[in-house]
Amino acid sequence: MTAELISGTEISKAILEEIKQEVNEMKDKTGKVPGLVTILVGENPASISYVTLKVRTALNLGFNEIQDNQPEDISQEDLLALIDKYNNDPEINGILVQLPLPKHIDDKKVLNAIDPDKDVDAFHPVNVGRLMIGGDEVRFLPCTPAGIQELIVRSGTETKGAEVVVVGRSNIVGKPIAMMMAQKGVGANSTVTIVHTGTQDLATHCKRADILVVAAGVPNLVKPEWIKPGSTVIDVGVNRIGKNEKTGKAILRGDVDFAKAKEIAGKITPVPGGVGPMTICMLMRNTLRSAQRSM
Ligand code: GUN
Repeated sequence: MTAELISGTEISKAILEEIKQEVNEMKDKTGKVPGLVTILVGENPASISYVTLKVRTALNLGFNEIQDNQPEDISQEDLLALIDKYNNDPEINGILVQLPLPKHIDDKKVLNAIDPDKDVDAFHPVNVGRLMIGGDEVRFLPCTPAGIQELIVRSGTETKGAEVVVVGRSNIVGKPIAMMMAQKGVGANSTVTIVHTGTQDLATHCKRADILVVAAGVPNLVKPEWIKPGSTVIDVGVNRIGKNEKTGKAILRGDVDFAKAKEIAGKITPVPGGVGPMTICMLMRNTLRSAQRSM
């Protein structure tokens, strides 16, 4: 059997269309559009390319987008003052500080200075706590986990009562997606296991998974024989394993041996084109929801 491909490229396009429609409705009703500021410190090439994509997506949706680039040597004090300015700007609904920050800046201090109600990355401890409580308490879901949940739901995978195994316990992906899938409600209500580098027998746990979410950052960590036939496999890994000699572009692989796994799984995400495109899409949705709440 060959698995059904879960295309993040296609699903994110559909969600961006939905967001665009909601932005147009907001503009017609209130004359306002969501406001997002992206703060980029320094000239890290990967960060520049991520921020450029975020800015372009926001502009395409009709958002009020401010790209605030700051020099590498900005002081922590000045950066905190900048965040304070945007915290108090009623036109701004979402504040994103691109990571990593230069070494002389304490990134925890910076992220914790963002108003939790404008924290569209959902990295602030208040939003992490709200996620843990669940239900009406939640303001923003962290973007990559929210994208993963959308892929699971929109692929038609049943989550209620499903065995979900999450490989990896990072604050950005593993821990939040595990908590989200365990909550009561639609697209969740699953039985969740988190496995990590301290787990004795990864294979045994993975083999039980109706939904396997792999966010370990280790290419080909998950072997085909660990996959339960017919299961849904979400590969969050983006590993650069080399360079294409002709194009000069990085060759990307996930954490799952895709070529073999697709013969066993029921549904599977590719790398690239799976989870990746969903993250920016969820950032845009968080900004829209923040604007809707503020009105
Ligand atoms: N750097 C890499 N990924 C992210 C992200 O999702 N948000 C922010 N703010 N910085 C990042």
